Order: sequence, then structure tokens, then C-alpha cells
Amino acid sequence: MASYFITGATGTIGKEVVTSLLENNATVIAATRNPEKSQDLFNNKATSVHFDYGNKDTFNQVQGTDGILIIGPPLNPALFELLEPFVGYIQDNYTGRVVYLSGYGMDALKQMPFHALMENKLKSTNLNWNIVRPGFFMQNFGNYERENIEQRNVLFSPAGEGKTPFVSATDIASAISVLLTDQNRKHQTHILTGAKAYSHFDVAELLTTILGTPIAYANPDQHTYRKVLKDSGAPDFIADYMIPIYGLVKNGTIQNTTNSIKELTGRDPETLEEVLKRDFS
Ligand SMILES: NC(=O)c1ccc[n+]([C@@H]2O[C@H](COP(=O)([O-])OP(=O)(O)OC[C@H]3O[C@@H](n4cnc5c(N)ncnc54)[C@H](OP(=O)(O)O)[C@@H]3O)[C@@H](O)[C@H]2O)c1
Repeated sequence: MASYFITGATGTIGKEVVTSLLENNATVIAATRNPEKSQDLFNNKATSVHFDYGNKDTFNQVQGTDGILIIGPPLNPALFELLEPFVGYIQDNYTGRVVYLSGYGMDALKQMPFHALMENKLKSTNLNWNIVRPGFFMQNFGNYERENIEQRNVLFSPAGEGKTPFVSATDIASAISVLLTDQNRKHQTHILTGAKAYSHFDVAELLTTILGTPIAYANPDQHTYRKVLKDSGAPDFIADYMIPIYGLVKNGTIQNTTNSIKELTGRDPETLEEVLKRDFS
């Protein structure tokens, strides 16, 4: 039976990939710094191991597996420096398939080059790699904006009036599972999006209907966003990280849809309405 080493297994995408692979009867090693948490999460159906990009002694656990999913934690501008030693290790010691979770439009952010550097690093190796570049996750609203939405009735992202095709974590995971398991796919880069682009005004309207209470999009400029985050006690680096990323929406860099989800999984992508209803009902 084929086996897969899934990093970030307790996170938004990793969790869904583990679930998707288990449903297809694969053997899964769920790799995080908190194996106890992942053991509970997957009901012991996956093998949970302690893995840390910062600890080379944990790298050889990939041996004997058929594929690796590399997920780097968010909010880390030094992501390339964190992940590079692991890629260096597998470059010399691994012959299985490798999928990297990058991001839609991140190659345009010259001041935050970590995903582009990782993509280039993988492309420079003899590894059997594939790359996915998903758009903003639909699940971000439930994961990161819930307090603003449910307690303050507001969406507070510095995304301007830009539209972007949010994509469901479930669809991203299904696409990654295909790339990990399909022997015919090699050296491909897929931009993963939903079928339709929405502005944050559109999202506020959808949430208003789902929650039955008015939700407004505050459309903060970057100074207001930075000040509100600071006043709420958030460290400066969060605004430094989020403002350029939302800038990709604001300036239209990530407004186009692709049909990669359907092409890879054979299914239409989930709609934002479906995911918001699931997360907020
Ligand atoms: N959110 C979006 O809209 C979006 C869009 C496109 C791309 N992305 C990219 O997606 C990635 C984040 O994925 P996600 O949202 O699924 O992550 P997440 O939910 O924040 O989970 C991060 C995972 O990484 C693990 N982790 C953290 N530090 C680690 C370390 N030093 N060694 C090993 N594992 C570590 C965490 O587990 P432990 O803490 O237990 O170790 C956790 O399982 C980022 O690279 C981001 O740029 C995000």
C-alpha cells in the first residue's frame, strides 16, 4: 500500500489532505511538532510523528514513503530559510513524489520572496516535484475572521474593492492528493482557485444572509488596519505580512480564475456560499 508523509498535518490544508488520503486507503504519516494533537485528530488512523523543519534529526522519517507534502507555516517571512534544510535533505536522500504548497500571486511579491525561492529551489533539484499555488482559502473567514464577524459584525481586511476567487481547503486537498498519487503528473505547477471572484463587499453580503444579521466590510486603508491591529495588541510583523498579501487582491493581481480544481479532481470547485454556510451555520 502506498504511503505518504504529510507535513502541517494539524493545519487547515494538511488535515484535509490526510483525511482525503485515508479515505483512499493510503497509509499516512501525519507529521507535526504536536503528534498527540494529530493522533486525536485522525483517531489513530494515521501514524503521527514528531517532525520539525528546524530539527534535522526528524527528517529521515520520510524514508520508505512514496510521497511528501511540504507545507510551511504562515506568517513567517523567513519561511525559505526554515524549509530549505529539509529540501536539501530530500534532494540527496529521497526518490518519491513531492508536492509543495505555495500561493497564488506570491511570485509577484518581491519583498516576500519565500514561496518563489522554494519553488525555484525545488525546480533546481532532480526531485519528482509538483507545485500548487492556491488563492485565498475560503476557510480563512472561519479560521481568522470569526471574532470580527460574529462579535463586531465586521469584515476587516485591507483588500480594497478588489475581487479574488477564494478556494476551498477541501478542494485544495483533493487536488494535492491527486498530485501526490498520480504517477503521470510530474513537474507541474497549478494555480488553484474557486469558480468565481468575489470582493469583500460580496463576502459581507453573503455573511449577512447566512447569519441573518448585517455584516459590513470596513474596507480599511493600510494605516487604519495597522493601527487597529497594533491597538488590539498584535505585533507589527502581522500587518507587515498581511498588507502586501491583501494588496494582491486590492490591485487585481489575483483576480483570475483557473479550472485546475476540475481538471485535477474531476469535480466542480465548492462555492464560497457552501463553505461559509458550513462554517457559520
Ligand atoms: N491562508 C491562505 O489563504 C493561504 C493561501 C495560499 C497559500 N497559503 C500558504 O499555506 C501555508 C499554510 O498552510 P495552512 O493554512 O494549512 O497552515 P496552518 O493551518 O497555519 O498550519 C500550519 C501547520 O504547520 C505546522 N508547523 C508549524 N511550524 C512547524 C515547524 N517548524 N516544523 C514542522 N511543522 C510546523 C503546524 O503544526 P505544529 O504547530 O503542530 O507543528 C501546522 O500543522 C503557508 O505557507 C501559506 O503561505 C495560505
